Amino acid sequence: MKYQKIVVANWKANPPTLIEARKLFAAVKKAAGSFRGALVVCPPAPFLADLALSYRGSRIRFGAQDVFYEKGGSFTGEYSADMLRSIKAQYVILGHSERRRLGETNEDINKKIAAALAAGLTPILAVGEKGRDAEGNYFQTIEEQLKKGLSGISDSSLPKIIIAYEPVWAIGKRAEDAMKPNDVQEMAIFIRKTLAQKYPRNAVDKVAILYGGSAEPENVAGILTDGGVSGFLVGHVSLEPARFKEMLSVISDL
Ligand code: PGA
Repeated sequence: MKYQKIVVANWKANPPTLIEARKLFAAVKKAAGSFRGALVVCPPAPFLADLALSYRGSRIRFGAQDVFYEKGGSFTGEYSADMLRSIKAQYVILGHSERRRLGETNEDINKKIAAALAAGLTPILAVGEKGRDAEGNYFQTIEEQLKKGLSGISDSSLPKIIIAYEPVWAIGKRAEDAMKPNDVQEMAIFIRKTLAQKYPRNAVDKVAILYGGSAEPENVAGILTDGGVSGFLVGHVSLEPARFKEMLSVISDL
């Protein structure tokens, strides 16, 4: 199965001001010029509408870093999937380890995935273990995150979901600390096997799997070629325009 290459830029809680967000986005636009694949930019919620609604091109798509599962009403501080759709967001990252650390549960994530799908957003479900042990117990963590996160999601909805595998211990470091291509591949195979316990093979085959955790220009070629994934969830490098551009060009050329 041939997958489209996907790069998701996760800006997290950066940059500090709208002016700087516009500047960063202008640089990303330039970098995206020759990218062959899907590029999804996920700015912080306060900047998302401004960037998405003023963007006139077609190369970049927009995503949010979270969403609430209710459609609206008395939920101070939250925002719905329909609200995101109305400002031209098409994707939403759900279950990122930095949100799980703040208390988000697999059950919350599951409700958010259902709400995102119902509104026509593409959920990017992030899964990953905090650490690795010699006995391989971390596989159970991933299995549980997948099974609980996708509970009740239909066969026909599964291909609309992107899975981002992000080993927590490899996030925010350097290329040499990222996971090695063979280990990424082992996990990509495990993820598909786990999905195949519940879903028909043809649906599982259509699910794009990304890798995240210190993806840098120096390691993306190896992981994309031998890691069994079709793209990346990129944190810190997405805030560094020159290196992000370099990364996109390495990925394009593969
Ligand atoms: P990183 O972040 O690329 O800085 O490791 C990835 C992520 O947390 O999504």
